[in-house]
Amino acid sequence: MSFEEVKTRLDIAGQSHALRFWSELSAEERAVFLGELSELDAEELKDHCRVAAEAAKRASGDEERLDSRMEPVSPEFIGSVCKSDQETLKQWEDEGFLQISENKVAVLLLAGGQGTRLGVPYPKGMYNVGLPSGKTLYQIQAERIRKVQQLASEKYGSSCTVPWYIMTSEFTLEPTEKFFKENGYFDLDPSNIVMFEQRMIPAVSFDGKIILEKKNKIATAPDGNGGLYQALVDYKVLEDMESRGVQYLHVYCVDNILVKLADPVFIGFCVSKGADCGAKVVEKAYPAEPVGVVCRVDGVYQVVEYSEIRPETAEQRHPGGELMYSSGNICNHFFTRDFLREVAQKFQRQLKQHVAIKKVPFVDEEGNLVKPTKPNGIKMEKFVFDVFQFSKKFVAFEVKREDEFSPLKNADGAPVDTPTTVRRSLLSQHYHWALQAGAKFLDEHENPITPILRTSLDVDPPAICEISPLVSYFGEGLVKLLKEKNLKSPFLLNENNVKTLVQN
Ligand code: UD1
Repeated sequence: MSFEEVKTRLDIAGQSHALRFWSELSAEERAVFLGELSELDAEELKDHCRVAAEAAKRASGDEERLDSRMEPVSPEFIGSVCKSDQETLKQWEDEGFLQISENKVAVLLLAGGQGTRLGVPYPKGMYNVGLPSGKTLYQIQAERIRKVQQLASEKYGSSCTVPWYIMTSEFTLEPTEKFFKENGYFDLDPSNIVMFEQRMIPAVSFDGKIILEKKNKIATAPDGNGGLYQALVDYKVLEDMESRGVQYLHVYCVDNILVKLADPVFIGFCVSKGADCGAKVVEKAYPAEPVGVVCRVDGVYQVVEYSEIRPETAEQRHPGGELMYSSGNICNHFFTRDFLREVAQKFQRQLKQHVAIKKVPFVDEEGNLVKPTKPNGIKMEKFVFDVFQFSKKFVAFEVKREDEFSPLKNADGAPVDTPTTVRRSLLSQHYHWALQAGAKFLDEHENPITPILRTSLDVDPPAICEISPLVSYFGEGLVKLLKEKNLKSPFLLNENNVKTLVQN
């Protein structure tokens, strides 16, 4: 596209200021900038800037508050691991494994976020949380996929695949691809790993103007994890699922170290209930915990995000003292392919745009880069859960926090959701699996370590034990390996020492 054409578009969109440094740019810089600007549609850009500025104005007022329209979900509606008997849980698990064994289940990782709070310059999935094995979040996830495939294959006697779809963004695609390649795709078949990219959208100033982050680059940000639905269309992901015979998708976010990929119990629960859409929840830990809550708004199931609920609403309690809005969203969702197709075709353009007011670095009139000290820009984001309202049969499934939810959000030093807390959650879980399987732990002088059943998540377990997902997906199969074994802490159980344990 020529300079004149781009200029006309920007004029129509009321954004001609974007070209104010044009005369200072080299031929190469001009080419890059022209390429970027050519991708913008004049009308869409105009709308985007107007909507962003209006939404930011409304958000600073009180009009958009959902609080008065919210009501809690009644407990009978929520399926629950704690409240179900072993037989029912087993039925759901069997159902889930059956679907997996028939190649009908895939997982989809949302990995387009910038991980600003954690503050590392690479994708969060590449983070090594300091486990004895040194595994990263991506490796742990890959190994859980391998194990769940193996378990389903063994149970139903047919080899199967759980394809891994990974949504990345401009920030994360390249490093993620490189990391997977360098690590031999963690011994998964690369043809079963499908990476695709969500869209980026311009950040906008409070007066509705796109922001230049360089003289030849506009400031953009990923369009939120709800950008998934547009990306499914852009990259024909549903067609890919169809060609593989995948009917059910488990969507999850990158940072939860305890995530059960393709969780057979959750899949089986959703399939048994005939759901087209489902969400895993945990009981909220405290009113201000930064998790969305599953509730109803105007009678329709929805997640209200932690940034959009008033503190006084989050603090409301039932007469018995429990939080009224206690179903915390852990960003683990179930969707049928048919539901996703319907959303992609009919609804994805209607998805709500949420406003985030951020500090966006920019170039000033003189062309100097400024890092603002207070918020100056609006980023618009869609949320992955905003499609629940279109579901014909939505279900929620409550799981135990200590078993399934420990997210990495912040750098060490913060009180919660740090490398230290996620490492502790995983090691605590594995320590208990080992105890339950009948293991005993010894310290470095071979003295017994007194077992402590289910330690608080705030303290380290008394012995260090890490179990590779390739050995056990969720604590199964450990009795034959660990019963009455004396294990010296720190103990790492992986595919290499399994054989030795069996022999001894
Ligand atoms: C998210 C949930 C919140 C939930 C919490 C649990 C959303 C919108 N919010 O909040 O309700 O209680 O997790 O941990 O889902 N991502 C993208 N593209 C983007 C932005 C994010 O793929 O443009 C991905 C991230 O890489 C991450 C996931 O979405 O895997 C969640 O994003 P994050 O910003 O960490 O969400 P939270 O605010 O913690």
